[in-house]
Amino acid sequence: EPCVYQNTDAPVEARVKDLLSRMTLPEKIGQMTQIERTVASPAAIRDFFIGSVLNAGGSAPFEDAKSSDWADMIDGFQRSASASRLGIPLIYGTDAVHGNNNVYGATVFPHNIALGATRFLRFFHFEQTNRSVKRAETEREICMRDADLVRRIGAATALEVRASGVHWAFAPCVAVLGDPRWGRSYECYGEDPGLVSEMTSLVSGLQGKPPVEHPNGYPFVAGSNNVVACAKHFVGDGGTDKGVNEGNTIASYEDLEKIHIPPYLKCLAQGVSTVMASYSSWNGSNLHSNYFLLTEVLKEKLGFKGFIVSDWEGLDRLSEPRGSNYRNCVKTAVNAGIDMVMVPFKYEQFIQDMADLVESGEIPMARVNDAVERILRVKFVAGLFEHPFSDRSLLGTVGCKEHRELGREAVRKSLVLLKNGNNADKPFLPLDRNAKRILVTGTHADDLGYQCGGWTKTWFGLSGRITIGTTLLDAIKAAVGDKTEVVYEKTPSKETLDSSEGFSYAIVAVGESPYAETIGDSSELIIPFDGSDIVTTVAERIPTLVMLISGRPVVLEPTVLEKTEALVAAWLPGTEGQGMADVIFGDCDFEGKLPVSWFKTVEHLPLNARANSYDPLFPLGFGLNSKPV
Ligand code: GLC
Repeated sequence: EPCVYQNTDAPVEARVKDLLSRMTLPEKIGQMTQIERTVASPAAIRDFFIGSVLNAGGSAPFEDAKSSDWADMIDGFQRSASASRLGIPLIYGTDAVHGNNNVYGATVFPHNIALGATRFLRFFHFEQTNRSVKRAETEREICMRDADLVRRIGAATALEVRASGVHWAFAPCVAVLGDPRWGRSYECYGEDPGLVSEMTSLVSGLQGKPPVEHPNGYPFVAGSNNVVACAKHFVGDGGTDKGVNEGNTIASYEDLEKIHIPPYLKCLAQGVSTVMASYSSWNGSNLHSNYFLLTEVLKEKLGFKGFIVSDWEGLDRLSEPRGSNYRNCVKTAVNAGIDMVMVPFKYEQFIQDMADLVESGEIPMARVNDAVERILRVKFVAGLFEHPFSDRSLLGTVGCKEHRELGREAVRKSLVLLKNGNNADKPFLPLDRNAKRILVTGTHADDLGYQCGGWTKTWFGLSGRITIGTTLLDAIKAAVGDKTEVVYEKTPSKETLDSSEGFSYAIVAVGESPYAETIGDSSELIIPFDGSDIVTTVAERIPTLVMLISGRPVVLEPTVLEKTEALVAAWLPGTEGQGMADVIFGDCDFEGKLPVSWFKTVEHLPLNARANSYDPLFPLGFGLNSKPV
């Protein structure tokens, strides 16, 4: 007679209750422990009953490992877990934040800031409510935020993540962007809480869409083609003073409720299974220690029934120097409401401290039971007991044509046209694809790594041909007529510039080099690698379109804006560069609208459309169209 928890047909809550009742304290503490893949030996997993394994950004089985290599590694971890007394499967998590970005050959979608710019046009036929309304006003073009595109990206990402054996994606980041000086601006969908809330549709893509009767706040995963999602970082991570990463968000509780909490309501309504606590503080109180927000608000008031995972060494950051007095950090964070701890290396110390704290009663057994119940609930809901191992039949979805076409669509829809010609009746775009001779130049014209940005292959991202994909240059060459000569130079040479009259136009791609988290914090926000100088040098001689590859608004005035004919914010488009050619040559119209205000100078920051003194270079929601040919 199988135990209730092993009975697939038993209700989840009954399985949770039954399994919990069979567990020893070490087994319960093990479920709360998440370790990094480099320390996840078979002995560690088995003897410490480890509940979860993750990989740091850039930590891979080996260089350019493919999905099947990842699946081999993770299946290995799972075999060790299933060998434990109760055979509780472990849950493997990774930062698949714009596709399965660790894995060679995976589709790398545009980063969130680009997705926040995506729109589609919908015609609304308004009833003629009163005789005075003229015919033309009854039919209006409304720019709708393309939440369904983001959901589709989530579904595609889930397939590619599952194909690599991974069960859990640490996405979406639902930070509401308060200040572009923040190194994680590109991980935000934008500055408007409503926009960010709509783009949480990634949860329904990753996990599958729950049925209407699904209880709010209860974890949901549709099936084995889906993954567990993670809304992060709770709460107020995007609102820190001056955009300092892991900084302090000074705000009233009403401001949190108005600005930073709304996206979590939408995530809970979609059955998000996990939430990651933020490194940042609220009015000086570190989120990892904040019982009021983690437990009283998220769990009790909002009814979250999944589990809260700490951020990487989030507990260590509760003390100075970091990691000192660790037992006290464990006590504070677990009692505040952290259910699973992303240790991720010194797991023996964490486990020992937990055991001592429970023995001494400083952490109540009820708190441990609540944490483990939540973790087991997610594992049952995710079907891990039924499908603990990778499904190799999904390998064909990795980087498949359909997913790359989806990425290309996202790129097309995310580009924002900021300038198109020096006077309205002489638009510069769409470009003539049959021009005789064109110049393509700039540090970002032929660099796939730069197009992908941070969290790609490595934590911070790289330059160069790092995976399979299409650079802007590749896309331009594929788009122009066969009589068009494309001259490419990463930096324009003197002879090229001296023969500038021979060019119909120039496309200059400049922007930011990849970064992540604190190393991305910037108080200057100027275009690196003398990007503005390259633009000026070319634009003074040749009619120029500038493609800006950046994770956020950067300083444009005075040169980049005045001296050029046209300017496109391309954000961080990822591997499907073809989407950029689609709009600049006019196969498709520009539809993107700014998800974030574009400042004039950094002295004006923070700059939000909500503020009363609002004087942007380009306002939130700005974006020109160029009629397709
Ligand atoms: C990082 C980030 C978090 C990420 C985690 C695991 O420091 O803050 O977003 O999911 O650690 O890589």
